[in-house]
Amino acid sequence: MKSYKKIGTIFSLAALALLPTVANAQRMTFQKDSVFLFSYATTSDEGRSGLKLAWSRDNKNWFAIGDGMSFIKCDYANWGKEKRMYNPVLYRDAQKGWHAVWQLNGNGKEFAHAASLNLTDWKAQEYFTDAHLNEHVSESWQKAVEAKATVNGEQQQGTVIRVAWEDVNYLQLYAGEKIWRNQLHNELMEQDPVRFAGLKPVRQTLTLRASESKPISDKLIGVFFEDINYGADGGLYAELIQNRDFEYTSSDRKEWGATTAWSVKGEARMEVGTSEPIHINNSHYLILESKSEGAALVNEGYDGICLKKGEKYDVSFFSRTGQTGQINKVKVALLDKDGFELCSSVLKVGATQWRKQKTVLVPKRDADAATFVLTPLGTGSIELDMVSLFPQQTFRGHTNGLRADLAQTIADLHPRFVRFPGGCVAHGNGIDNIYRWKNTIGPLEARKPMRNLWGYHQSMGLGYYEYFRFCEDMGAEPLPVLAAGVPCQNTSCKEGELLSGGQQGGIPMEEMDEYVQDVLDLIDYANGDPKKSKWAKMRAEAGHPKPFNLKYIGIGNEDLITDVFKERFNLINRAVKAKYPDIQVVGTVGPFYEGSDYEEGWKLAEQENIDLVDEHYYNTPGWFIYNQDFYDKYPRERHTKVYLGEYASHVPGRANNIETALSEALYLTAVERNGDVVAMTSYAPLLAKEKHTQWNPDLIYFNNQEVKPTVGYYVQQLYGQNAGDEYLPADRKVETSRSDVNVRIGSSIVRDSKSGDVIVKLVNLLPVSVYTALDLSDIGIGTTEAHLTVLKGQPSDRNATPVKSQVTVSEKFDYELPAYSFHVIRIPAVQQEKK
Ligand code: AHR
Repeated sequence: MKSYKKIGTIFSLAALALLPTVANAQRMTFQKDSVFLFSYATTSDEGRSGLKLAWSRDNKNWFAIGDGMSFIKCDYANWGKEKRMYNPVLYRDAQKGWHAVWQLNGNGKEFAHAASLNLTDWKAQEYFTDAHLNEHVSESWQKAVEAKATVNGEQQQGTVIRVAWEDVNYLQLYAGEKIWRNQLHNELMEQDPVRFAGLKPVRQTLTLRASESKPISDKLIGVFFEDINYGADGGLYAELIQNRDFEYTSSDRKEWGATTAWSVKGEARMEVGTSEPIHINNSHYLILESKSEGAALVNEGYDGICLKKGEKYDVSFFSRTGQTGQINKVKVALLDKDGFELCSSVLKVGATQWRKQKTVLVPKRDADAATFVLTPLGTGSIELDMVSLFPQQTFRGHTNGLRADLAQTIADLHPRFVRFPGGCVAHGNGIDNIYRWKNTIGPLEARKPMRNLWGYHQSMGLGYYEYFRFCEDMGAEPLPVLAAGVPCQNTSCKEGELLSGGQQGGIPMEEMDEYVQDVLDLIDYANGDPKKSKWAKMRAEAGHPKPFNLKYIGIGNEDLITDVFKERFNLINRAVKAKYPDIQVVGTVGPFYEGSDYEEGWKLAEQENIDLVDEHYYNTPGWFIYNQDFYDKYPRERHTKVYLGEYASHVPGRANNIETALSEALYLTAVERNGDVVAMTSYAPLLAKEKHTQWNPDLIYFNNQEVKPTVGYYVQQLYGQNAGDEYLPADRKVETSRSDVNVRIGSSIVRDSKSGDVIVKLVNLLPVSVYTALDLSDIGIGTTEAHLTVLKGQPSDRNATPVKSQVTVSEKFDYELPAYSFHVIRIPAVQQEKK
């Protein structure tokens, strides 16, 4: 009866007494078409590998279905290891529907329930405490038969139920297909020497059928910006002082506090003040007490401060006279790592109320890891806040702007839109961590900083105004994504906090009107008339009287599509469409390309006629190779279009290399082909600061000195810079009988109506050349030069860069694609003869 101890927290003692035993189950008469189905989760990994199934004819000899594959995994809790499944019970209701109930923490207090009609497609999981157990489970649950079974040589504990053989047969077929697909998806290029041993160069012909052309989206390539991996503070946001507002806290990171990144030298003392701050949203400031001449306050920047000789840096801070002594002047200076003074300036201080001081510093030399030093000239105390060092040379020269080299690298992608501020940052880790756009606009000292769920701090210096301005600077559409009134589905929940607004909670319904109004106000802020709207007036005061022309708004980010979600999403979506029918709303369909959120999300999209939905999938190169028909299967008549908002090819070790980049390039040929149903795509994540990454791979790595675009970046750039708005289909014939060869060659031909240029993209993921005979006679190409860009390398190559040249083209020409290569041939319009 030991096993009852664990499961007993589910069952009341009375129910326990009634519970049928294995012995009872064995005594059941064996029906002709009946077999036993055993369900369990492995205790060795605390059920992280999910619910498994085995079958038996005699209730003694068990056969694992799908070799121990999981039929449903627990979605509750933070990513990865926290998602556990204890003591699952599988049972059927009177209508033959399946239900799985399990414990989340193994303490018998928090539970999950999921329903399915076939054990392979599951509805959204629900989470509840023991007090609500009876509302979520039917009586049949109590009849579940507990059992022990030896599966694949290991004894497991679970429940057993009798089913028709057809049920098991279905599961076996499903599992077989899944295993087969997984094998394809796990194909890696390191296996190519064996897989393609002896393969000779391949020949293909491509014959254009211009008459069958179709319009496609002209916004296919955009960027996904999230403050992850130090993407904003310490990254794209050009501020050089770390923790300028003294608002770091231990909830950002355990070892952090208000004085993180600050120190004193000499006889000085730092204290944190909170009485009468500059603004209630910025409640901490620094009290610096200098006890002798030369004592100073030092900021280390983000991994040091990188400075350029001769460039101008704006210094500013708020100060107020302290309680003791009299400090009338301070010196601000930048020192290199050897203590050499690169520049300095003396400022008058001493106001009794907060007052802003400013100066400009110009370093005499370049420095990689300088420090900012503020030295009171005199002894006593001074109060400081919002201490800032900002390069004047920002992207497009804006004050409070963006790091120029990084922003330029993003602009060079030629993105058609920018999604911001996430990702998970948008919906936050718990309701209190939901990103609120209103906290990120207005004077910097009045913005409300917040914990970043990626384990650091958001100063909000890069806020909604700056995001809109960046989009405008790049000619990209802004695509803000706001929480759908629910926090991240991977929000961590401590035991016992389940219903206190953790993972699956939503903003209380009585607060939703206010939240919906916030969403409407954002549209007003972006597009409204400053004379009529308070929010538009704030935009104008910030320096942008003209509207930002917001056209899209995302609601939700890969949320669990539960009733809690739907109720809130519908409120927001309907309110936006009622007031702003021209705004395109982007809904969400979960974090995967299949599964309950994907299914339920799409169902909701069709019910509510949502304009677009945001699909996310991070998959293996093999997945991208074998799923090029993913969107070919999408119904053309459906109103809802796709925004593939997060995707990337992931290899073991998470490198961004030729293998991942070419699989993305190949997949994007299929995306262009389906540019009538796919409206937008964005690789994710965009930025990663070296030594501060929470997620790999990313598109652009950087440190304080350098920007390091990846191989995958160049694929995005080649697509971004060579986009079209008309797809020109071509007949492709590959001389091979091997499907694994065929799927590794891709092509897409588009025309850009603005320039009239025709762009041919060709991808070869094989270890041999592909000789391509192109027949473009259908559009009448003149015999002359086209622009060629080639990206190629060995699969593990992380440093390949595109090479540009000219190539001779004609109506029919031969072209060689060397092993592992991506080619863009841009045929200028002037060279095309009109037929
Ligand atoms: O891109 C990184 C993360 O992946 C995003 O924040 C989230 O939406 C997804 O799970």
